[in-house]
Amino acid sequence: MSVKWRDSMSVGVAHLDDDHQQLLDYLNRLEDALLNNAGASKQVAQVLLGVMQYTEEHFEREEQAMSAAGCRDLEVHRAEHLDLTTKARDLAHKYTQAPDGETAWAFYDLLSNWLTNHIIQRDVPEARYLKPYYAGRYIPARS
Ligand SMILES: [Fe+2]
Repeated sequence: MSVKWRDSMSVGVAHLDDDHQQLLDYLNRLEDALLNNAGASKQVAQVLLGVMQYTEEHFEREEQAMSAAGCRDLEVHRAEHLDLTTKARDLAHKYTQAPDGETAWAFYDLLSNWLTNHIIQRDVPEARYLKPYYAGRYIPARS
């Protein structure tokens, strides 16, 4: 089942909302690739590793933003990101060693469930710090 962005996922800061939307799009691409191809296809491998990389880059950007905005309990938040990254990396590694649909679906399920819950329950409440800090600030587009 594809993952959909909804307004309740907004953290009130455009560059982080964009990241989250990109991540969900990326996951949907992984799901499409899995539905349309064998689990061991080149396309699945490419998208899966792309999702992994984007997730890590996003966490770094989000943590920087939260640090700048003075969000509380950042260490706890960081630890949650690390926990997910470790589990996802293990699956990505397992997949590259022996590509199969089961591992790729496990990766997809982990990321899609975790991210949806995490954005709503852990990121959105930080809007109270992020929004005022970023109000009117210019964030250069990523290259
Ligand atoms: Fe987060």
